[in-house]
Amino acid sequence: MDIIKSKKTAAVLDARLLAAASYVRHGSLVADIGTDHGYLPIYLILNGVSEKVIVSDINPMPLKKAVENSEDYGVRAKIIPILSDGMDNIEKSGYFPDDIIICGMGGETIISIISSSLSAKMDSRRLIINPMTKTPETRKFLTKNGFVIKDEKLSKVQGKIYTCICAEGGTQTAASEEYSEVELILGRINIRKRDSLFEEYRSEQISRLKKQINGMKKGRLDTSKLEKTLKEIIVL
Ligand SMILES: C[S@@+](CC[C@H](N)C(=O)[O-])C[C@H]1O[C@@H](n2cnc3c(N)ncnc32)[C@H](O)[C@@H]1O
Repeated sequence: MDIIKSKKTAAVLDARLLAAASYVRHGSLVADIGTDHGYLPIYLILNGVSEKVIVSDINPMPLKKAVENSEDYGVRAKIIPILSDGMDNIEKSGYFPDDIIICGMGGETIISIISSSLSAKMDSRRLIINPMTKTPETRKFLTKNGFVIKDEKLSKVQGKIYTCICAEGGTQTAASEEYSEVELILGRINIRKRDSLFEEYRSEQISRLKKQINGMKKGRLDTSKLEKTLKEIIVL
C-alpha cells in the first residue's frame, strides 16, 4: 500500500483507492466493505467528502487496525466500525448506505456481497467496486442484474493496472444493459474513454486470453468463441 503518512492530518491514497474515492458522493452515507487498513474512509473524512463512514471487515484484526488508524488521524468519532460478512451486520444494525465501496477483493466475493445485500438494490444506491479477479464476470453480473455501469476508471499501482467500476440501479424493474464479450472483458466505458492506461490494459487482457486459449487447447476444449473475441480485441 503506497500511502504517505506525512502528517496524521493528511492521508494520501494510491491511484487505485483514489479512483474509488472520486466516486463517493459528498454527504452520502458511505460503507467501506473489507476496509482492512481503513485508509479510504480516513481520506474521505479528512477531505470533507464524508461526515461519517461505516468501516467494516469480516475479520476482527483488520477492523481493529482501521480503528487504530482512525485514532491516529483523529477521526475515530467519525467512523462506525462494524464486524460484518459483506453487508449482513451493517443492514442488521439498521444502516442502508447510499454509497457502498467494495475494493481489493475477488470478483466472486464482490458478486456474493452485492447479491445478498438489501441496500445495494435500493433506489439511488451507488456501488464502487474494484475487483482483483473475474472482472468480466463482475461486469456481466452487474449488467444482467439491473445495474448500470456509470463510469470506470483505470489506475496503475506498482506496475499493475486496476479498474474501478461505479454502478447504480439494481432495482428489479431496471433494464439490463447488453454487453458484448469484448465489452465484458475491457469495459464499455474504458473502450469509449481510451484513456492513457487503456492500451496497457488491452495488452494485459490479450495476454490473459491467449493463456486461457492455450490452456483450453491442451484440454482439447473448443476455443472458437474465445478466439473470435481475442481477434475482436486485437483489431479494436
Ligand atoms: C485485500 S484487502 C482490501 C483492502 C482495501 N479495501 C483495499 O482495497 O485496499 C481485503 C479485505 O477484505 C476483507 N474481506 C474479505 N471478504 C470479506 C467479506 N465477505 N466481507 C467483508 N470483508 C471481507 C478481508 O478481511 C480484507 O481485510
